[in-house]
Amino acid sequence: MDNFFISFSYSPLNEILCKYKNIYAVVDSNVHSLYSSWIRSSFNNIYVFESNETAKSFESTQKIIQWLLENNADRSSLLVGVGGGITTDLCGFVASIYKRGITFGLIPTTLTAQIDASIGGKTGININGIKNAAGTFSKAEFIYINPHFLRTLPHREFLCGWAELIKTFIIGDKKYFLTASLLTDSVSNGEIEISLTESLNDCLKRAIEIKSGIVEKDRFENEGIRAYLNLGHTFGHAIEACCHFFSPQENICNHGEAVAAGILIAARFSLLKGLLPIDEYKAIKQVITESGLPSCSKIMKLCKVDSTKIFTEKLLHFIGNDKKCKEDFINFVFIIDLGKVITMPTSIAEIERYIHDLCYD
Ligand SMILES: NC(=O)c1ccc[n+]([C@@H]2O[C@H](COP(=O)([O-])OP(=O)(O)OC[C@H]3O[C@@H](n4cnc5c(N)ncnc54)[C@H](O)[C@@H]3O)[C@@H](O)[C@H]2O)c1
Repeated sequence: MDNFFISFSYSPLNEILCKYKNIYAVVDSNVHSLYSSWIRSSFNNIYVFESNETAKSFESTQKIIQWLLENNADRSSLLVGVGGGITTDLCGFVASIYKRGITFGLIPTTLTAQIDASIGGKTGININGIKNAAGTFSKAEFIYINPHFLRTLPHREFLCGWAELIKTFIIGDKKYFLTASLLTDSVSNGEIEISLTESLNDCLKRAIEIKSGIVEKDRFENEGIRAYLNLGHTFGHAIEACCHFFSPQENICNHGEAVAAGILIAARFSLLKGLLPIDEYKAIKQVITESGLPSCSKIMKLCKVDSTKIFTEKLLHFIGNDKKCKEDFINFVFIIDLGKVITMPTSIAEIERYIHDLCYD
């Protein structure tokens, strides 16, 4: 059964919250300062933390657990996470282990968290720089999605979520891919998160339905369907790692931007292997680039690497070291039509043969 609801009003959320006697809210500090009066009027017990990848840790987990203990949270208490994907991942993780598990609800405030991180019951923290090295499968009691939160989101953060939204429609809905493609102008000039049009709301709702539908069929990633959600991520993760490697001090690309470049590569790979018709490939390329998301060659230029060979060698190195790569094969997600993807075991050797064509289109 669906555990999420989308509303511009706080009333349906208040109706849920009033069922609980003891509510504890873990809130991203940026969200806390932007929405302080609503947060203070909605929650009595508030834990504010500075959200960044290093905060998704055992240390933060322990601090939140200590705070819950000091404030007498028991098994009947409700824990609520208010913030982006870092908050929802961390809060879900704490709730799933505190006193062997307490009920939790999520109030995602970024586009990434609204359509992706809060949906699907995966929680996680990072250990020794390894993303989501520890985590649980644990379903939130409710996920309250209010598109109003997107109004204050920095544009670059909005774009990252937009990349995941496009990915979701490439996987699961051609019609909505075309609806989203009509919005690229207002996405690229930053109008969409201010105007919050009906079309954007429809897109949010549909993207959440698609993701939860996939998760419902393969909750624990056993049957492979959930792997479709990795579209763009094989190269995406490797591109992110290359940026950290070549330009560690600069924030050249964040996760959503790397995924967008990864989707372009997956689309091109599918085209070169004769799986995806050229018009569909062009449509994907157009939506991604016209929204203002980068390609791999653009990211490589920003990294200022002397030769393309050095960059692609490093990319291959990171793909080979990906936790999903087994005996030099990776279950690569190919696109066969808008709204349809398949996975195929693909050797690192084959990726190497195509790599120049894939990255420098
Ligand atoms: N569990 C899953 O299935 C899943 C899926 C995708 C991503 N994730 C995780 O999600 C995390 C990324 O999520 P994210 O992109 O939301 O990052 P995030 O939580 O860091 O939020 C991004 C930035 O936006 C700020 N922010 C949040 N809401 C805001 C608002 N309404 N207005 C202004 N600023 C706001 C935050 O303070 C932060 O600086 C990663 O750790 C990733 O691993 C998890």
